[in-house]
Amino acid sequence: MTQLCQETVLQEEAQRLYGLLLDVSRSKAVKWTQTDCEQAAPYTLAINQLKKEKNAIVLAHSYTVPELVQGVADFSGDSYALSLKAREVKEDTIIFAGVWFMAETAKILNPSKQVIIPAGKAGCTLADSITAAEVRALKEAHPGVPVLCYVNSSAEVKAESDVCVTSGNVFHIAEKLPQKELIFVPDLLMAQNIDIELKRRGTPKKIISAGGSCCVHDKYTPHQVNALRAQYPGITMICHPECYPEVCALCDYVGSTKGMQDFVAASDKKIFGMLTEFGLVNRLEAAHPDKQFIWPFGVCSYMKKNTLVNTYQAMTAPTPEQIITLPEEIIAGARKSLERMFELSK
Ligand code: 13P
Ligand code: SF4
Repeated sequence: MTQLCQETVLQEEAQRLYGLLLDVSRSKAVKWTQTDCEQAAPYTLAINQLKKEKNAIVLAHSYTVPELVQGVADFSGDSYALSLKAREVKEDTIIFAGVWFMAETAKILNPSKQVIIPAGKAGCTLADSITAAEVRALKEAHPGVPVLCYVNSSAEVKAESDVCVTSGNVFHIAEKLPQKELIFVPDLLMAQNIDIELKRRGTPKKIISAGGSCCVHDKYTPHQVNALRAQYPGITMICHPECYPEVCALCDYVGSTKGMQDFVAASDKKIFGMLTEFGLVNRLEAAHPDKQFIWPFGVCSYMKKNTLVNTYQAMTAPTPEQIITLPEEIIAGARKSLERMFELSK
């Protein structure tokens, strides 16, 4: 390619990105400028070209940075939608912009594919809060009680569990299981939310839980909800079920990242208080320029470890830390709990 031709391609790519990213981050002082897009363009061009050359697909969680979600992802969504998508991928390689447990889930569901996570061992305070040995101890203490594990858990924990759940189907599956007692790991706050929701539905169960929490969602407080309602009359408050039950009780909608997107899309309200991670706020701002999103902070530093630079690097020369490998017996065990989730979600 001649230099002039290459410059034109880069400028066109920068314009494409500017069009996509212009409306992102209206809730913050930091805006995408032409210069930001010019700097991102060589990477998005190269990554999109590498996808074709290496027969790769990029899956991104909604909490990752907008230049990945908008600029290079072939699909982005919540944990459930990403799992379904990963299961049916035909390409040779899955580049998973997300956290470690999500990339592991992709590998479990489609083990013949190479799964690469640009961020390397990007943790999650929930997934890192419990081990398979601790799940075994819970099972021994409560023989015969089925174990539900939140998808935010390691492959080993999934392999010890009977059924996996995500934020989008947790209440439905907890209700649908015939048992009156359930072990739910590792999110203590979500366990409390299950308890409350099942009582509300008239199908109460005893929920035995562990002690994990999300370091983003456990920071939101009832005081914040009340303060936002006082400051913005008519505001619609939205939160994730990883929040404290006291916070959920004060909100107008509680749901997964996909549930929140659908709720906003279907609503005729104009102003929303978002008690969730900033990446989702970015997505909503891009999708709904007519709506205002108030976000009282909340950033997942693990999700933000995925960048254009390390995605490019991981696609050209991945380090062992960026490639998901799992023992076959763990894949088999974890897959059972995930497949059970797909069956029960119907
Ligand atoms: P979702 O399944 O709702 O996308 O949630 C994943 C997550 O990590 C929330 O903190
Ligand atoms: Fe884990 Fe919380 Fe980050 Fe989600 S937002 S990946 S639950 S630490």
